[in-house]
Amino acid sequence: MKQVRVFAPASVANLAVGYDILGLALESPGDEVVVKIGTKPGLTISKITGDGGKLPYDIEKNTAGFAALQYLRSIGKDQLPIEMEIHKKMAMGTGLGSSAASAVAGVFGVNAYLGQPVGKEDLLKFCVEGEQKADGAYHADNVAPSLLGGIILIRSNETLEITQIPVPSDLYLSMVYPHIEVLTSESRAILSENVSLLNMIAQTGNIATFIAGCYESNYDKIGQSLTDVIIEPQRAHLISGFYDYKEIALNNGALGFSISGAGPSMFALCKGKDTADNILEQFAQYLEENRIKADIFTSKVNTEGAKVIG
Ligand code: HSE
Repeated sequence: MKQVRVFAPASVANLAVGYDILGLALESPGDEVVVKIGTKPGLTISKITGDGGKLPYDIEKNTAGFAALQYLRSIGKDQLPIEMEIHKKMAMGTGLGSSAASAVAGVFGVNAYLGQPVGKEDLLKFCVEGEQKADGAYHADNVAPSLLGGIILIRSNETLEITQIPVPSDLYLSMVYPHIEVLTSESRAILSENVSLLNMIAQTGNIATFIAGCYESNYDKIGQSLTDVIIEPQRAHLISGFYDYKEIALNNGALGFSISGAGPSMFALCKGKDTADNILEQFAQYLEENRIKADIFTSKVNTEGAKVIG
């Protein structure tokens, strides 16, 4: 193939009740990668746009580059002359899986360029290895949905056993990304190593009921179960006004509201587009009243994941 351009979407990890083991893909934003023949042996990055000069060109240090290199090594083709352009279309450090989208686009792009010798699900390992470059942790709750689409449950991040959970057709998200920086590494470092038995019981009951709700398209069950008693209380202070946004969302009919990934983005999960649109309007009003700079948008769950776009 002469050249291929791919897209990998943003994602919402944790979904309130599944820290490190649950995530979903958004329709947009997302990153794009172009893959074409190179001028010298091996993988090189020829262009990076949209990153404000922050990302390294060194393949070993770049999330997309390293993920793609690990993939190429695994199939014995790391000496093929391949050139990669990375087009960041989403801000970094948002809690929307920006580094995951880059890693996925890198691996998926190179695999597509080579005529898809490896199945999509088998690319997951390399995407996780790439994302690990960014936050130092090995978890698939952003890369798996970005790659495969939909809502993904991860039984084990070690063995990467995953299950694609059915997506109820009327699920929408209202997203807020306040322009503050929350470092994933710090947002992870502040978490306590211990969980009380009572919280363990509440959280496992909630995640199990959330999954059941998705299988049954039962929005009542989804709404009853979207409460995080473990991670959110420890991270909420990192996002100024967190409980104001939560109150707005829940008072206006959201099924649930929590932090997207490690933050600072937040999501309201809603039944129906009208509810999501209305909550977005309420968020806009709150942001204006409090002079807070933020991006807001609605999205359905993206069930396709990474795709070839040109
Ligand atoms: N599950 C991860 C976290 C997602 O909450 O830290 C962010 O990378």
